Amino acid sequence: MDDKDLIHLGIIMDGNGRWASARNLPRTAGHLEGLKALRKCILGSISNNIKFLSLYAFSTENWKRPDQEVKYLLNLVATKLPAELKFYNTNGIRILVRGDSSNIPPKVAAAIKKTEDATENNSTITVIICFNYGGQNEIARAVNEIIEEKIQAPITPEIIRKHIQYPFVPPVDMIVRSAGEKRLSNFLLWESAYSEFGFYDKLFPEWNEDFIKVIKNDFQKRTRKFGGLGK
Ligand code: FPP
Repeated sequence: MDDKDLIHLGIIMDGNGRWASARNLPRTAGHLEGLKALRKCILGSISNNIKFLSLYAFSTENWKRPDQEVKYLLNLVATKLPAELKFYNTNGIRILVRGDSSNIPPKVAAAIKKTEDATENNSTITVIICFNYGGQNEIARAVNEIIEEKIQAPITPEIIRKHIQYPFVPPVDMIVRSAGEKRLSNFLLWESAYSEFGFYDKLFPEWNEDFIKVIKNDFQKRTRKFGGLGK
């Protein structure tokens, strides 16, 4: 398979809490360690020639977590996302944040805007932080836009695709999840129509550059058919 085929990788970062509990640490320590792993996964993606990396950081359902943890995760994005500008700009990393921006605190929205603006000309890799993100919410937002624009029936998949946030981002080629869970959890529902899946036992804080290579190797063993009979 051609080296260029894994263009867009999606990661469901799971197991931060379990990583911390196993060490008698608070769950928040697991999220901090997850953040370190995230940095390594970005570098690993660059060295494996991946062009788009989508990371599931906070879902539309994560508001159900205890208040303290929700506040911690929001604060992590507000403080740590813009704090890494030097890392992004040195490595050619463009940051985009994908999700429902209608109900996020102003401090978080400002941090997101600052980071997106400061990295918009970087082109080695686009890292899409899925934040206050839900696949169903994303499709509903697209449908609402279509209604507001008074587009007439028949509404085709192509029209919907063009209204999904960031239509220039290609469909996700492979979605991987850590910590042994085998669920999609409302991640990239529209974009994953023909993606490959990989489920790994390793907890997310233990992922690193080398693990991205393992994922790429797994991906390259797959035969993709897109509903046809294969290449
Ligand atoms: C899932 O593990 C992890 C999350 C819900 C949060 C992931 C967020 C980060 C790694 C940081 C993102 C921050 C920025 C700045 C992009 P879990 O807590 O559900 O783990 P568990 O299932 O073991 O409890």
